[in-house]
Amino acid sequence: MTTCSRTMLDRTAARSHQETDEKEKEMIDDTTPAESANLSALSDLCTPWCIHVVATLRIADHIAAGTTEITTLAQEAACDADFLQRVLRHLVSKGVFAEPAPDQFALNQAAEELRSQQLFLDLDGIGGRIAHAWSSLLTTVRTGAPAYHEIFGLPFWEDLQAHPDIAASFDVLMGPAGHGIPDPEVLLTGEWEEVKTVVDVGGGTGALLAEILRVHPQIQGTLVDFPGTVTRAEKLLQEAGVRERVQTVGQSFFDPLPAGADLYVLKSILNDWPDREAQLILSRCAEAARPSGRIVILGGVVPDDSVPSLLTPEMVLLGGKERPLTEFQELAHQAGLTLLTSGRLPSGRFAVECRPR
Ligand SMILES: C[S@@+](CC[C@H](N)C(=O)[O-])C[C@H]1O[C@@H](n2cnc3c(N)ncnc32)[C@H](O)[C@@H]1O
Repeated sequence: MTTCSRTMLDRTAARSHQETDEKEKEMIDDTTPAESANLSALSDLCTPWCIHVVATLRIADHIAAGTTEITTLAQEAACDADFLQRVLRHLVSKGVFAEPAPDQFALNQAAEELRSQQLFLDLDGIGGRIAHAWSSLLTTVRTGAPAYHEIFGLPFWEDLQAHPDIAASFDVLMGPAGHGIPDPEVLLTGEWEEVKTVVDVGGGTGALLAEILRVHPQIQGTLVDFPGTVTRAEKLLQEAGVRERVQTVGQSFFDPLPAGADLYVLKSILNDWPDREAQLILSRCAEAARPSGRIVILGGVVPDDSVPSLLTPEMVLLGGKERPLTEFQELAHQAGLTLLTSGRLPSGRFAVECRPR
């Protein structure tokens, strides 16, 4: 799978943090010129849309539950039988689903996979926002800026705030159901005994913070994200048994952050933003962490000798980008931070640790 074909915030890394190396290998593959391509196959939009449509209609789930005949499938999915059949037969020709007898459809391995990819593909949820966002690529290339608002009327985060159902599906995608359980081992230096307080900045519904607190009973946590998102974090924090050790703060991370914590975590945040905004987030962390807190960055920074992703959903949705370490270091310096160390965590994920200057 190429980087371009991934959906937010990328299906490969989504499976788990342990696949980070695989992701980086894919990035290298992305930049290796292919001998020569089949242009018709590459420019076919029919198949990707058919996949999104059957995922949205939960056709694989209906078949798994025992409905195989096309008319009944269409009734259960509340859609037109003739068009559903055309879509399914097209997909059968591409190796997704089987038609063992006329008008009877069955799952094959690829169709089974559709069931686990639901979050990424469902056009009624965040999957639809990401799929449609790719149609803004021409404007992005012409102008050098994201053009999500041309399609949905508002920039990405504002659109999510205006549509709580979509925002909730984004939070689910970013949480354990989409990205797996995060690895709490986020410090390159270890040294957890020095950490009594952690702020997860843009921490979503708290999956990483919950894991850190579960493994380190001495730590108190603060979850900073949009008000709707931290409200949706309640269930996860309760179920992880850490609710009483977490303060949730519904605010923008462009505003001053809760101050004086030992550790500030930015996971999958900086890659969402262009330089000006990324620097402001880092500045907010630097201010809050003074004089002696640390900031750990996971995601969005890659080693200088690896190739940053060419095109990602984050770039199209938000104008974000990955940065080589040297470029990040310059940004961090302007934000009032000094690089302490960088390298790979036991999970294989690349991490950077900074402290205020
Ligand atoms: C890509 S997600 C990463 C979530 C989490 N850190 C993780 O790795 O799963 C980006 C997060 O930033 C949050 N976010 C975006 N803009 C924000 C802002 N201005 N203030 C606070 N949070 C924001 C989003 O709500 C979302 O939870």
